[in-house]
Amino acid sequence: MSNIERTLSIIKPDAVERSLDGQIKQIFLSNGFTIVQERKIQIEKSEAEKFYKVHETKPFYNDLCTYLSSGPIVVMVLEKENAILANRELMGSTNPKDAKENTIRKKFGLSIDKNSVHGSDSPENAKIEIDFFFKA
Ligand code: CMP
Repeated sequence: MSNIERTLSIIKPDAVERSLDGQIKQIFLSNGFTIVQERKIQIEKSEAEKFYKVHETKPFYNDLCTYLSSGPIVVMVLEKENAILANRELMGSTNPKDAKENTIRKKFGLSIDKNSVHGSDSPENAKIEIDFFFKA
């Protein structure tokens, strides 16, 4: 049975700063994703804090929010069969050191913080995260 899903993808400041956003978008397209919506923006730290609220008790929360708001990002809605899992596989492990060959984080990630991309981790969070950036 078909299971077309939408997921939120963010190309993070480290990748946009290195002008990797075009290459990363091309990787999504050549792996069968459709980019349904896309915006290049810079967010305030307070917005990053809202976006990453699930991590608010973690020791890395403050640095994470400072970082996501430190420069331009590209936020996208990606669509594909089983898009949430497919995107997580294509991104690779959170820490680029642990990511498999040919994943985006292995290719472009610099560290666990500067890991180039974010992707929703569940259907529930995909809806919340898409609405966060794209709700009319
Ligand atoms: P992301 O998928 O955007 O979700 C939360 C981010 O927190 C994660 O990618 C990492 O960049 C960052 N992070 C920093 N330290 C850690 C850690 N110890 N464990 C998980 N994520 C971390």
